[in-house]
Amino acid sequence: MAMRYYISDLKNYVGQKIELKGWVYNTRSSGKVKFLELRDGTGIVPCIFFKGECQEAAYEQFEKLTQESSVRLTGTVREHPKRKGEFEIGADEMEILGAAENYPISPKEHGTDFLMENRHLWIRSRRQHAILRVRHELISAIRDFFDGRGFTLTDAPIFTPSACEGTSNLFETQYFDEKAYLSQSGQLYMEATARAFGKVYCFGPTFRAEKSKTRRHLIEFWMVEPEVAFNDMYDNMDLAEQFVEYIVQRTLKNRAEELRILERDISKLEPIKGSFPRLHYKEAVEIILKENPAFVVGDDFGAPDETIVSSKFDKPVFVHHYPQAVKAFYMKEDPKDPGYAMGSDLLATEGYGEMIGGGQREESVETLLKKIAEHGLNEKDFQWYLDIRRYGSVPSSGFGLGLERTVAWVCGLPHIRETAAFPRLYGRSYP
Ligand code: 4AD
Ligand code: MG
Repeated sequence: MAMRYYISDLKNYVGQKIELKGWVYNTRSSGKVKFLELRDGTGIVPCIFFKGECQEAAYEQFEKLTQESSVRLTGTVREHPKRKGEFEIGADEMEILGAAENYPISPKEHGTDFLMENRHLWIRSRRQHAILRVRHELISAIRDFFDGRGFTLTDAPIFTPSACEGTSNLFETQYFDEKAYLSQSGQLYMEATARAFGKVYCFGPTFRAEKSKTRRHLIEFWMVEPEVAFNDMYDNMDLAEQFVEYIVQRTLKNRAEELRILERDISKLEPIKGSFPRLHYKEAVEIILKENPAFVVGDDFGAPDETIVSSKFDKPVFVHHYPQAVKAFYMKEDPKDPGYAMGSDLLATEGYGEMIGGGQREESVETLLKKIAEHGLNEKDFQWYLDIRRYGSVPSSGFGLGLERTVAWVCGLPHIRETAAFPRLYGRSYP
């Protein structure tokens, strides 16, 4: 492969003449000096065209540079005269590779619809670039956390015969001459692989046909789902807490520059370590009722209720023991606390809402059969799942963390739509 130089590596080439390839981020001129801000995906660097120093042809070509035209140039790497640790290029020659005519996204303000329609171009801009770099860091931190603790990655299928998280938002599709559904969660499969490998996780796209436009819901989102045989609901919260600390602290450390570009107040993320507060549903309800007296005890929390609870803490907060009735069929009811489920949600700080849902799974075939019927599910589709209990049933627990909600929280974004390169939203599947 040809030797290629990247803006992120300029510190290694100070004093040397190198070739860079990239796109025009910005240009300006003053007298005999012309400035090009060149973007190559790894960074942005000022390239200075000084009349008499650079080649005459390059100086002339400069006038033709338009925003997002692609160029190849050569020049000498210098330390930035004012900004320590930054570099600039004393340009020598330049070639325009692909001219860009009337690039639609200019530095002026654009409406959200326009930007979403041009998402394939919008991702080139500095903020969007920073968000997607944070997303990547979170993804690799997620993998490293589990890989470093002896978990086996056992990914789940996307075509599934049945619902996991209720039937109201299932995406139905055709699987040759049968019906199939796009996976809402890999959990049921992880329960099977956990009995084969002990500690497992899956990490992939999941789908919810949610016909609502909120700032927290995507139609297609990525979820990481660990499952551990013999863990109870408290072990599960311990794991979730260590996991969230790891991915947040590592992103703070490795993506400080991106978080600065996003103007994220990192003092809000620094406390995300150690143990997180844990509230019983009933304790959380007491907090909610003080500010939302209309809340119906026994209901699931709405987004405003979650905000009321989480605003009381500077760390994420677990709410555990939700009423059994608002939770999925597989949740184990607490024998010591009848009517309440052995599950917990983790609510993020600053009103970002539920980031994790999980808990301990029902072990008994008889109870599961009852729950499957109560939830209007088809027993036939769950025979394999019941087999997990028929052959060596054990307690197990796990959780699902929504990647995009986590990206929104860590980046401090008001809306989830900017957390994926090509988000699928209700009412938008283009580009
Ligand atoms: O709470 P949920 O529905 O839990 C499950 O799917 C379990 N089966 C997970 C498990 O125990 N293995 O979803 C888990 C998380 C939520 O807390 C949220 O972060 C995210 O997935 N999530 C969504 N993110 C974006 N858009 C949506 N429509 C989401 N629905 C859930
Ligand atoms: Mg949930």
